[in-house]
Formats: sequence, structure tokens, C-alpha cells
Amino acid sequence: MSLANGRHYLAIPGPSVMPDRVLQAMHRPAPNIYTGQLVDMVAGLVPDLRTVARTTQNVAMYIANGHGAWEAALTNTLSRGDRILVLGTGRFCLGWGEMAAAMGIDCQIIDFGQRSDIDMSRVAEALAADREHRIRAVLAVQVDTSTSVKNDIEGIRRTLDAVDHPALLFADCIACLACDEFHMDDWGVDVMVTGSQKGLMTPPGMGFVFFSDKADQARARADLVTPYWDWRPRANPAEFYRYFNGTAPTHHLYGLRVALDMIVHEEGLENVWHRHAVLARAVWAALEVWGQAGPVRPNIADRNTRSHSVTTVNFGPGNGKRMRDWMTANAGVTLGIPLGGVEGPGGNADDFLRIGHMGHVNTHMVLGVLASLQAGMTALGIPHGATGLEAAMKVIAEG
Ligand SMILES: Cc1ncc(COP(=O)(O)O)c(C=O)c1O
Repeated sequence: MSLANGRHYLAIPGPSVMPDRVLQAMHRPAPNIYTGQLVDMVAGLVPDLRTVARTTQNVAMYIANGHGAWEAALTNTLSRGDRILVLGTGRFCLGWGEMAAAMGIDCQIIDFGQRSDIDMSRVAEALAADREHRIRAVLAVQVDTSTSVKNDIEGIRRTLDAVDHPALLFADCIACLACDEFHMDDWGVDVMVTGSQKGLMTPPGMGFVFFSDKADQARARADLVTPYWDWRPRANPAEFYRYFNGTAPTHHLYGLRVALDMIVHEEGLENVWHRHAVLARAVWAALEVWGQAGPVRPNIADRNTRSHSVTTVNFGPGNGKRMRDWMTANAGVTLGIPLGGVEGPGGNADDFLRIGHMGHVNTHMVLGVLASLQAGMTALGIPHGATGLEAAMKVIAEG
């Protein structure tokens, strides 16, 4: 007997659950890749992608995962020996910096650790100390998927402007575009990277680089530009074939078309943000009540700096792994493993798990996960405040 039999729920922080309509749109024979329906459809994706990023500027599409988008952002703007400032708040920004270092870029790293967001005073200090303006770009992740922290991207722009520093601002929104609020133009972001597989509800395999006109000027002097990753032909193709520098990712594009219809034209981006905010608050409410009488702690203490798309949780000694195993075996739910040293020095990764609540996710999915977690804690004898689920339901009821 297994209570897990039934529809399985992959509640990891990406790839996220895809709408059946997205899957169905991809279930078709390959189209002509030179003329016809596909060509018209791709041109129509661009304005909707811009809407999701809140920009009127440029977007280049790649057949790549997030790492590919990272590399594209770096190659198009920087030269070997250029200095960048990397603002680490978990695995991902540090990983982007490691990639840059491997490409011959000089990385100045400020590591804010595993439990908190970017401290702007330290950023201001580093920028002010750079009197010769050697720092060409500041790299930050809006939501670091390992720690589940949310950084204030607009605050970094304000900090750059306050010290009159000309560096470009790069934001990784791979884990949070179309989940957490983001305004590329209003926040003065020069380069934003994202992927298809999280808030955009499409299979992994497409990467997007949005770039400002100012970032495009930097491309003129960048010596890392390579023909394949060059964003210019992709953002402004003379012929359709150049959008992807070769054969288009045909089926991803059909899926993405439907996903963007759902986000931009049906639900509306503000409503999508609101849905993610309410569902995230429901998760936090349950965790906070459970923690009143037991070991459960959200990794990020301050609600204002928590992501709306993923929550990293410390369940107490060894309990992260025990709970993940119990959920798979008894609830048909797969939760995320801890990533990138979130446990910190001397900590234990088995204490942690991550709950993905991004993309095509709704009340019954989130409450199902929370109710199953509460049942799991009871089954495993993990002490917890008894009314966590009620607290989550109250958040949902209030909308
Ligand atoms: C914030 C963030 N940046 C970068 C990446 C890397 O993306 P990918 O695994 O698609 O290469 C991820 C993946 O989870 C991520 O969450």
C-alpha cells in the first residue's frame, strides 16, 4: 500500500509544473523553420517577453539553460581582464562569478552569506573605493534559489547612482521572473538573464538575455564576444534563421507561446505576481507557526527579503532529508534538496529542504504540500506548532 500513488507533484524550485496546455501545444510535428506560422509566431513572442520583463529594450533568445544565458551576458559586455563586482547571497551569484573568472574576468566578490540579502552599505563602500571606475559591471541574483533570499535590485541601481558609478547592473532573474515583481527599465537594470523552466512554465532549454541600449554600447568594446553568443543578430535579426543562430527550438516556442498567453493576456502579470505573493505568505505562515513549538525555521528570517517563488527551510537535525523521503514515499510530492552549502560552516545539509512554489501553482497544490508536511512531522515525531496549516489557510482565505 502506498498513499503516494496518484498524480505526482514535483515541488522543486525548477523545472516547475507545466500547464497541460503548454504540453499539448508542443505535441505536434515539426514546422517549417524558414517561412510560415513559426516565423510569425516568434516575432509575436518578443513584445510579450518584454512585457514580462517590464522593458521596452532588447531581448536575445538562446537554445540554452540559465548557465548559457549567464555566459551570453558576460561575453557580450566584457573583455578579459575587466573587473566586475559579484554580490553573493547563495550559490548562484557566486557560480556566475566563477564562470566569469574562468573566462578571464577579474571578480571582486562580496559574500553576504547564506541567510541574508545584499547589504547596500557594503556595496556603496566597494563602489566608492573604486575611484578609477575599473568595475565594469555589478552582478546580482534577484532570487537566489539555494538560500531563497530576494535581493533589492532597484536598491543596487540607487547605490550605483548615489556614488555616480558608471558600472552596468546585471540581474539574474532565472528563479523569479513572472513570480516576483521585477521592472527592468524602472529599476535601471542593464542586463537581465532568465530561463524558460521556472516562472515561464516551459521546459528547460531556452535562455533569455534582456539588455539595455547602454549594455549594447559596451558590446562594441567587449573582446569576449563570440559569433554564437553574440546578442545583436538575435535581438535584431536580418532573417528569421538568425534569431537562434541556426535551427529554432521549435517545440519550446510553441509551448512558450501558450505560457506567455496565459501570463500576459489571460491572467495578467500583476495578478501572477499577486498569486505568487499570497501563496508564498501561506507557506511562511505555516512554517512560522510550526516553528513556535519545534525546530522548523525558514532560512531567511526577514519576510521582506524572502522570495515568492521558493522557500528554503531548516527542519532541524537530519529532518530535511527525513521529511523529503517521507513526502516522496507517502504524499507523492518531491521537494527540493538543499544546494550550495546553505547549511553554512559546521551545519548539516540533511537539515534542509526547499519548497518550490513558482509558475503554474495554485491554492490546492500549496495547501496539499503544507498539509502533507504537517502529516509528515506528526508521523516522524518532529515537534511543531499544531496550527500551521490553519495559519496558511487563513492567508489563502484572505487572499
Ligand atoms: C537563480 C538561478 N541562477 C542560475 C541558475 C542556473 O540555471 P540552469 O540550471 O538553467 O543552468 C539557476 C537554476 O536553478 C537559478 O535558480
